[in-house]
Amino acid sequence: MAEQLIIDTAANKEARYKSLVPQIEALISGESDAVANLANIAAALRQTFNFFWVGFYIVKNNELVLGPFQGPIACTRISFGKGVCGASWKEKKVMLVPNVDEFPGHIACSSDSKSEIVLPAFKNQEVALVLDVDSDQLNDFDSTDEEYLLQVMKLVERFI
Ligand code: SME
Repeated sequence: MAEQLIIDTAANKEARYKSLVPQIEALISGESDAVANLANIAAALRQTFNFFWVGFYIVKNNELVLGPFQGPIACTRISFGKGVCGASWKEKKVMLVPNVDEFPGHIACSSDSKSEIVLPAFKNQEVALVLDVDSDQLNDFDSTDEEYLLQVMKLVERFI
């Protein structure tokens, strides 16, 4: 496994994602433990983009429970349909929220969080976990993040 992440700090966002996705693929190949892989993916995303908060919430007994993440401490449990993460789970789709204050029911783990993207990963057609990425800037995520983070979620679906 590659133990060092190569990040071109001069590259733009899309170029960084293009370089990161195969590195994540290499990172998880040969490791079947879900927590180990999710932890390294969260770290790789944080290292590459310096996201304010990035991590996973895992579906357990009808709730989302905090999983591996990087960033400030966060809410541990989220109910079905609640907040952006719960909405992504319920609606089985990507939620891109340019301004969290305008999202009904947003769960503010931190008042510094201003925009957010949440993507589900599926196992047997059901949401098994979500990836949540938060920014302390408004309108910080776009279709490029969605496109490449979806590729990351396809990799996640290999081991969950
Ligand atoms: N804001 C999220 C909750 C999780 S934290 O921000 C880490 C939500 O509304 O689902």
